Amino acid sequence: MEAMEICMREAAANPGRGSHAMAVKASRVLFETRKRLARLFRISNPNDIAFTLNTTHALNLAILGYLQPGDHVVSTSTEHNSVRRPLEALKRRLGIEVTYVATDEQGRLDSNQVEAALIPGKTKLIAATHSSNLLGTITPIAELGAIAKKNQVKLLVDAAQSAGTLPIDVEKMGIDLLAFPGHKGLLGPQGTGGLYIHPELHLEPLMYGGTGSRSDDPEQPAVRPDRYEAGTPNTVGIAGLGEGVSFVLKETVEAIHAKERELTTQLMKGLLDVPGVHLLGPEIEEERTAIVAFVMEGVDPSELSFLLDQQFGIAVRSGFHCTPLGHESAGTTQTGAVRASPDILRSNRKS
Ligand SMILES: Cc1ncc(COP(=O)(O)O)c(C=O)c1O
Repeated sequence: MEAMEICMREAAANPGRGSHAMAVKASRVLFETRKRLARLFRISNPNDIAFTLNTTHALNLAILGYLQPGDHVVSTSTEHNSVRRPLEALKRRLGIEVTYVATDEQGRLDSNQVEAALIPGKTKLIAATHSSNLLGTITPIAELGAIAKKNQVKLLVDAAQSAGTLPIDVEKMGIDLLAFPGHKGLLGPQGTGGLYIHPELHLEPLMYGGTGSRSDDPEQPAVRPDRYEAGTPNTVGIAGLGEGVSFVLKETVEAIHAKERELTTQLMKGLLDVPGVHLLGPEIEEERTAIVAFVMEGVDPSELSFLLDQQFGIAVRSGFHCTPLGHESAGTTQTGAVRASPDILRSNRKS
């Protein structure tokens, strides 16, 4: 919040559009945040990261900017609507084909099934979430990266639930496109996010317009990140995101993950003692992100969520979680679920 206030006071100008001091400061805010994100995700050139409004925006830029008529995509049944809906739209608009590989009831994905679903010469993309937003199950991204590389297919990862809480190394994991939010594990404000685009991968921009660079050219510039950042950016939000990423880098993702696992295990153990509660997703000892979804016999998830909020000040998500296929795999299409997500900042604040 302080970083955003300072940015409002001292850098309230359009980055990359002028040479006066405030504009230069605004450009520096963007570059510093980009550099920190590059360090976090082991990206060699910060300019391969384009800022977006959120994960959904980044996923749309990746999916709509990369796929061509007739392409085939392999995705999974754990995907959020922010992956599935753009894919479904391209099915209708461009005639692309999509295979959704089903996970098991706990959300575990068998990477062999992903490889088996590839169609030589036709599959252009594997699109997978790093962690199920319903069950917390972690997808074996490095295995998918190896499969993608071997079969000359690109890998798009939706890191909405993992950026800042699970280690991500785009090169080691073979990730070509990484979509991430600023406003979750990276502790930034809403209205921030980004997309990493492999330097050899060329996407058609989602939006065309002013970039400050090459203003005399009617065509969108090829230079990154300008090519994918038309219009005035959310400089103030990006200043806040920069501080969030700084915090994550200082604490380390490994330590954050370990702390979240501790809280998750504690929460799961506590819930198991409550009569009528059924936990969803992987067992306690398995690797998962800090997402604990459950159903309670005879109690509607929305009613439970209301009571938790009103009587205990506990905020949980209830009902259906933007992943119809995920609910199908988990067997909760009729009931929906309650989802709690402990996080280190709030747990630190209480102690
Ligand atoms: C797995 C997953 N993908 C995509 C999204 C969409 O993220 P955003 O709200 O940043 O667009 C979410 C949101 O919670 C999510 O959990």
